[in-house]
Amino acid sequence: MAGASLSAAALRASAEPTILVFDSGLGGLTVLDAVRRARPDARYVYVGDDAAFPYGRLGEAALVARVLTVMERLVATHRPDLVVIACNTASTLVLPALRQRFTTPFVGVVPPIKPAAAATRSRLVSLLATPGTVARSYTHDLIATYAGACAVTLVGSQNLAGFAEAELAGAPVDDAALAAEIAPCFVTDPDGRRTDVICLACTHYPLLLPRLEALAPWPVIWIDPAPAIARRVVQLIGALPRDADRHGFALGAFTAGTCLTTPLRDALAARGINEVAIEAVPLPLQ
Ligand code: DGL
Repeated sequence: MAGASLSAAALRASAEPTILVFDSGLGGLTVLDAVRRARPDARYVYVGDDAAFPYGRLGEAALVARVLTVMERLVATHRPDLVVIACNTASTLVLPALRQRFTTPFVGVVPPIKPAAAATRSRLVSLLATPGTVARSYTHDLIATYAGACAVTLVGSQNLAGFAEAELAGAPVDDAALAAEIAPCFVTDPDGRRTDVICLACTHYPLLLPRLEALAPWPVIWIDPAPAIARRVVQLIGALPRDADRHGFALGAFTAGTCLTTPLRDALAARGINEVAIEAVPLPLQ
């Protein structure tokens, strides 16, 4: 998790803060859930930049430009007290530019290498992420800093984020397709040691966790960074006030809205998104 710059005291002063949770699509909902459990009174704006999904296939310069463009609009419209970039693919790249451009504090989601290194016994750890996150120098630096004693297998999945979107939209892919995406995470070495920890380094993947657990060739610890992100948000905006209303409002906004089928709208409502809107930010013409 990457920190934020504004003083915690200044943020705690604002009652019922507005928290904007941002991702390329639906994956950030896994982070929204965790943050909302900690501060159910806050006003939430969940934004999926589905016009540009998947971020994992965008080049670095294009991704920085895209996130800055969309965030410009979102910060002006919603005036959030805090923004969570609930996307590893973006956070491992764009946070310095966001912090330079805006005074709003940003909390990022980055691969949970440190807890993975603490949890492993076999010292064989796998990092499951988008091709973008796997390629980032930020990710390689995290591994060098926190997991020097481990053999870390980097698995860049082309399809898993899309499969998670399909799952939530009520069109799940079959087991064989999911099993093929996670198979490279399961490694054995000549001494008979096996991978025992897998970092879920894309916020989409916890949407599939029950199925991933069922399809794993052997049991492993799956590390989802969302609870740690919620703790960081609470550090910055404070814990739930005693007298708080526990039913804060949540708006879901999408930059294209093409993903908004009826089953997906139902799934969003079931996850406590009270209203859904389209805030169109088309991709620039190529
Ligand atoms: N949910 C995003 C992440 O955490 C990325 C998915 C994508 O757009 O490729 O990396």
